[in-house]
Parts: sequence; structure tokens; C-alpha cells
Amino acid sequence: MDKIKNNHAIFSKGNSKNIPIVFIHGFPFDHNMWNHQTEKLSQEYFCVSYDIRGLGKSPAGEGQFTMEMFVDDLMEIIKGSKLNTPVICGLSMGGYIAQRAVEREEKNFRALILCDTKSAGDNNDARIKRAEGIKKINELGSKQYVKNFLPNCFSEESTRKLFYKETLNRSLKTSSVGLKGCLLAMAGRTDTTEFLSKIKIPVLIICGEKDKLSPPHIMKEMAESISNSEFHIIPRAGHISPLENPETVNKIIADFLSREVVSQA
Ligand code: MLT
Repeated sequence: MDKIKNNHAIFSKGNSKNIPIVFIHGFPFDHNMWNHQTEKLSQEYFCVSYDIRGLGKSPAGEGQFTMEMFVDDLMEIIKGSKLNTPVICGLSMGGYIAQRAVEREEKNFRALILCDTKSAGDNNDARIKRAEGIKKINELGSKQYVKNFLPNCFSEESTRKLFYKETLNRSLKTSSVGLKGCLLAMAGRTDTTEFLSKIKIPVLIICGEKDKLSPPHIMKEMAESISNSEFHIIPRAGHISPLENPETVNKIIADFLSREVVSQA
């Protein structure tokens, strides 16, 4: 870890003079989710990842989180780390944060990469599921909740791989307060669907072919709403495509950046 700043564990790889990319992980993971991407892309870019409040090594504090607070945290990290108009890359809950950050302050970002995420806010069914999740954490504990939740995030094939075990073991360490705080923040987030057609910066949209939580047809629709966007389906991947098929994801991200970011810099 580089540093704990404003209660966040922040990690960086690469030369800080290069174009910065900020990676935001999903729930209930941590920055390690992006290791394949930060390793590869740090040859050309300054790659910064961090653990969202309450997850990984970032403390949960009182645990009363909102999506706006997650965006405030991101903007603080960008400012505190002196990152000049970074590319922002978020997966699932990280994608909710990234979309809302761009909605709030588009001029401060160079490009947006969205992996396995949605623009719609939670509907009533989703909110009820979040409430059930909180109840389960209270009744069965955080570990049982994580054990039940994680298989939904990966393709069946991935759940037999070593990286699944490693990811599960890390997620099992998450505190109940951190998990519940994130569930509340996601349930209360705003809907960014209407904003999509207003985005001016280039957008890359990536979705695992077997993603059950934010399936390809939903992400394709998002891409169709954005004028300067491209959409890719990742084979052999579920909801965590950067971890399940890193070679394909790395190539797509690298090609997008060199076309849409480096050549424009
Ligand atoms: C995630 O992967 O970040 C979560 O599954 C997103 C969600 O529950 O909406």
C-alpha cells in the first residue's frame, strides 16, 4: 500500500508523470480486483486503485454510507494524489460511483470505462433484496453473507479457479458494518440513465457474456445511449470480467486508451 489518506488505502503503480487512470472496484471486493489491469497498464499509464470506505483495508467508521459520500471520497483521492484529469474505470458498484462522479464533474475526467455495471438505480425488488441482505448479515454474520453472495458474481467455471478462492478469502474479512453501509449506499443511489446521452467524454463499456447481475443486453442499451462509446462482450466471464478474462479485458482497455486518450493528449 502506498498510503492511508483520509481513511482510504490507496495504491499506485507506474510513473506519476503518465496519464492517470483511477480504478474503482465492486462490492464486496477490494483494489486487488484490478491487479491484472494495473500491472499491465502501468507500463504506459499511472494506475491508481483504492479500497472503497468499509471494504478491503479502508475502515468502515460509523458505516452510514451514501453514494454521494463515495463520490466525495473519490474526488478527495484524485485531488490529494494530484491526478490531472484521470481516466476513470469502475466495475459494478465502482461503476455507480464512476457514473455519478462524471455526472457531477465531467470536466475533471478524460474518459470513462464501465465494466459490468448499470445506470438504473435500484427498483423496489432490488431495495427489498438489499434489506434482506442486511437482515442476513445481522442474523448469520458477514462471512455467511459473503459466501452466499459471491458465486452470483462469477461464471460457474470461474468459481473453480484459484483466483475465486483468493478473492473469496479476501472478501470474507470484510466487516458487517462495511457490508451494510455499502448495501444502504447502493439502495439509495440515484439513477444515471438520463445522463448517459449527455456524456461527452469517450466511454468504453465492457460486460462479461455470463454476467447475471448486469447482463449484456442492459449494458448494450447503455452504450447505445452514449454518443461516443464502444461496447464489448467478454467471453468466459461473469460479473467480474477483469478478473475472469484479464487478457481480453486488458487488450480492449489498452486499445481504447491509445485510440481515444493518448492520441488526443
Ligand atoms: C457489485 O458487484 O459491485 C455489486 O454486486 C453491485 C450491486 O449489488 O448492485
